[in-house]
Amino acid sequence: PPSEPPKNGHHDLIVVANRLPVDRKVAADGTTSWVPSPGGLVTALEPVMQRNAGAWVGWSGSAGEAPEPFEARGIRLIPVMLDEREVEEFYEGMANSTLWPLYHDVVARPQFHRSWWESYEQVNQRFADRAAAEAAPNALVWVQDYQLQLVPQMLRRLRPDLRIGFFNHIPFPPYELFAQLPWRRRVLEGLLGADQLGFQRPADANNFLRACRRNGLSTRRGMVQLPGEPRFGSPDHHPRREVNAAAFPISIDARAVQELAERPEIQMRAKEIRRELGDPRVVLLGVDRLDYTKGILHRLKAVEELFEDGDLEAQDAVLVQVATPSRERVDQYQKMRQDVEVTVGRINGDYGKIGHPAVHYLHQAYGRDELAALYLAADVLLVTALRDGMNLVAKEYVATRYDEGGALVLSEFAGAANELPQAFLINPHDIDGMKAQIMRAVHVTPKEAQRRMRAMRRRVFDHDVARWASTFLKVAASAVEPNAVASVS
Ligand code: ADP
Ligand code: F6P
Repeated sequence: PPSEPPKNGHHDLIVVANRLPVDRKVAADGTTSWVPSPGGLVTALEPVMQRNAGAWVGWSGSAGEAPEPFEARGIRLIPVMLDEREVEEFYEGMANSTLWPLYHDVVARPQFHRSWWESYEQVNQRFADRAAAEAAPNALVWVQDYQLQLVPQMLRRLRPDLRIGFFNHIPFPPYELFAQLPWRRRVLEGLLGADQLGFQRPADANNFLRACRRNGLSTRRGMVQLPGEPRFGSPDHHPRREVNAAAFPISIDARAVQELAERPEIQMRAKEIRRELGDPRVVLLGVDRLDYTKGILHRLKAVEELFEDGDLEAQDAVLVQVATPSRERVDQYQKMRQDVEVTVGRINGDYGKIGHPAVHYLHQAYGRDELAALYLAADVLLVTALRDGMNLVAKEYVATRYDEGGALVLSEFAGAANELPQAFLINPHDIDGMKAQIMRAVHVTPKEAQRRMRAMRRRVFDHDVARWASTFLKVAASAVEPNAVASVS
């Protein structure tokens, strides 16, 4: 490692994430445009970075040369390139066919390939090199999510002057699952390069701390104590350190979401949506990336049975399922899309009427305006994830409902359930239980709905994304002087 930090960077705050907040789309005629990227990470971090001067290092979402740094949506963006093979091995492979299913309780089977791991190391090094080159002396670098778990250690080696934070947006699995990972030790070492580690739920932070203990480290009150030898997670120029791991549940820009919902044109659009749906008595809504962790098939099964049992009737009740295209070249996503589309077709074939499908399935990305109108139009939002780090859709629904109407059906296995216990909580594996809760939500009295929604809104507005970011950044920035030796008792 260099003895003097390189002086070329000038950003005091840098976010490093696999994705930039915008995706590069190349049309058939070769013209390029940038569109908002999918997912909760971007939803949460974009307003934070718009308010703080800083830079965002990330990938453009397509293979090939990275463009020069540029400004978009009020943020300085620094693209990192991935070639075609890295998209396959790092992004679709190691990140989304190994770590994603493993960290989400193996709801799909993770695959382990050594060549994917090599690509993961190589791409993580590229992100670390780029962040190291852009950071001002003593800057704060905030690394995001499971795609970049090796970056903290790589960055510390390159730039021991930096403060380094890491936030994991997805669950951190119980050790019994994490232990399957052939490179588990390298992942722990990578993460422990940070000063501050953030997780969605206390249970995730505890799973991480337990993984550290199972690999021979001691922990005390959320602090991992790194021994003063060039052994575990201790780059030689950092003899002894402590790393803190704690829960920082992520959130949304609740006020901005509500302001959008209050706009007259959004309210008109919400009414229009209900009219276009044929003015049914009950509108059920699902909004998810088309991902097997979201429990879309379980949800469809419950709704299908409710139509079959006569509890719901097409014409009187509809499900609108918005499913954003996601990771479309990964086998498990292709299979899942087929299953969802066959199931929607079957439900509509069995229960739809002319001009009145039972399920409106929309495999499309929407703008924030249309999503806000959909949230306002929906009587019940269905969040039925089998496992989810947080689920920001649930919080967006709550923030939208300034009328204190609507009901939220929420999986116990989404991080949001910790914060929103007033939702109609469900176990998506228990189809009968889920059906009963959906019907309770459908028949809830306005007074009871209001009581629940008011309590959930209080939580989401008190704990918004600005508070999440400032709490995390404050503790990360106050981490022990980087070049001092932490006292380990
Ligand atoms: P994840 O990060 O796994 O995708 P979250 O629920 O935390 O799940 O975040 C999803 C984000 O993506 C939310 O901000 C939501 O509004 C947005 N989103 C989901 N579906 C769509 C869609 N079809 N069009 C546009 N945005 C969407
Ligand atoms: O944490 C959720 C997350 O996996 C982000 O890391 C990611 O950017 C987002 O969902 C969308 O996934 P992808 O970037 O693979 O399209």
